[in-house]
Amino acid sequence: MEAQSRLYLELVSDIKKCTKCPLHMSRTQAVPGDGPINTEIVLVGEAPGKSEDEQGKPFVGAAGKLLDKLLEIAGLERSKVYITNVVKCRPPENREPEDNEIKACNNYLRRELSLIKPKLIVALGRIAGKTLYEMCGIRWVNINVARGRVVDCRTNNLEFKLIVTYHPAAALYNPNLRSELERDFREHIAESIRRHEKTKRKLTLEDFRL
Ligand code: URA
Ligand code: SF4
Repeated sequence: MEAQSRLYLELVSDIKKCTKCPLHMSRTQAVPGDGPINTEIVLVGEAPGKSEDEQGKPFVGAAGKLLDKLLEIAGLERSKVYITNVVKCRPPENREPEDNEIKACNNYLRRELSLIKPKLIVALGRIAGKTLYEMCGIRWVNINVARGRVVDCRTNNLEFKLIVTYHPAAALYNPNLRSELERDFREHIAESIRRHEKTKRKLTLEDFRL
């Protein structure tokens, strides 16, 4: 675990001084992921917004407030999950990150995931969903096809369940999406966690019998 913490600190410092894509020129500061690295659950958003760029932490603005509520609905505490973004620097005017920026930044997401080795990843929105599908070699069609489905993923010695849902910011602009987003957290995400916990318990019992 100590070696892991050291690697993680190295990763954070690499992100903070990164100049690998043009987004470094307009940022106030880069925003690494946040949360415990010994968790089993990782949430991945798109890119830092204005508040995140100012404070250096992911999901601390309006979308973050809604995300806190959604986590609560799924029975999760924010302090128990790791939250990060596909790109670590804010795109100007909050535009979507471009393919070259996503590609340049992808190694940081890979490093976060290989240190944490999550069992469940929740991708928030199209950019995160597409990026994670492609990392796992799954064909991305569109968010309406992917949304609310649990898929098994393998990439770089990692194995995890992946769920794509809407981005919380989308529900702020379009309140119709909010109930579907809430349903994904209440049903699919909570259910996936319950199932995983159950498997863990079963395994422990069987180990005990042997
Ligand atoms: N939206 C994101 O995708 N990420 C953040 O950190 C904040 C808003
Ligand atoms: Fe580096 Fe990623 Fe920031 Fe681009 S977005 S400068 S690749 S940390």
